[in-house]
Amino acid sequence: MTAQLLDGKTLARTIQTEIAAEVAEFVARKGTKPCLATVLVGADPASEVYIRNKRQACERVGMESRHTSLPAETTQSELLGFVAKLNADPGVHGILVQLPLPKQIDESRVLLAVAPAKDVDCFHPENVGLLVQGRPRFLPCTPHGVQQLLVRNAVDIAGKHVVIVGRSDIVGKPLANMLVQKAAGADATVTVCHSRTRDLAAVTRAADILVAAIGKPRFITPDMVRPGAVVVDVGINRTESGLCGDVDFDAVREVASYITPVPGGVGPLTITMLLKNTLIACQEQVGV
Ligand code: GUN
Repeated sequence: MTAQLLDGKTLARTIQTEIAAEVAEFVARKGTKPCLATVLVGADPASEVYIRNKRQACERVGMESRHTSLPAETTQSELLGFVAKLNADPGVHGILVQLPLPKQIDESRVLLAVAPAKDVDCFHPENVGLLVQGRPRFLPCTPHGVQQLLVRNAVDIAGKHVVIVGRSDIVGKPLANMLVQKAAGADATVTVCHSRTRDLAAVTRAADILVAAIGKPRFITPDMVRPGAVVVDVGINRTESGLCGDVDFDAVREVASYITPVPGGVGPLTITMLLKNTLIACQEQVGV
């Protein structure tokens, strides 16, 4: 069997068209354009590309974006001061502080400083708590992208065994929390595995839906995949031979029923869900 591709690029375009229509309707009625503020500390080239893509996406759907680049030597208190200004600015509806931050800055301290109502990344403990309790204010961007990729390709999640490899705060943990909820597009049985999991391949082979989010190039090999499983690759790794995911794509596609390409899988949906959150934030702040 050769797996069907889960095409994130095309789906992202479709959802962005839907968001653009919602934005246009909102702007016509309320006279306020949703605005995302992005902040980059230092000049990490990959982060610069991510920020550029996010800002271009804002423009495509009719939203504003405001970017600030701060020097690599910025202190924690300077960054906290800047975040406080964005929190207080009624013209800014969403705030995204690009990670990773330089080592002199305590990331969790900064994420805690972003006003929960503007926390479009869904990284603030208040928003994570709401998510865990099944009454989210925002859905975290990459997990929401994974969920939409499955739902909109008619991959049933309810009752399925989803195995997530990777327990990060950005992907693994929030995705597990979303998919285990008693809710549409969820209701899964979820297993989260990581570097200490005993006999990892035996666990991943039990998956109906296998999500790789570990940041190790081509880590998931065909022997780790049950024939017919759905494989979602969240990894983006820069190797000497170019970009690749956490899944050995060419080999695993011969075993899986559906598989995401890298690039062009989950990545474009992450940005799309950030736009969605910025619109939600603006609607909450301005009123609908
Ligand atoms: N760096 C890598 N992924 C992300 C993300 O989703 N949000 C932010 N703020 N930084 C990131």
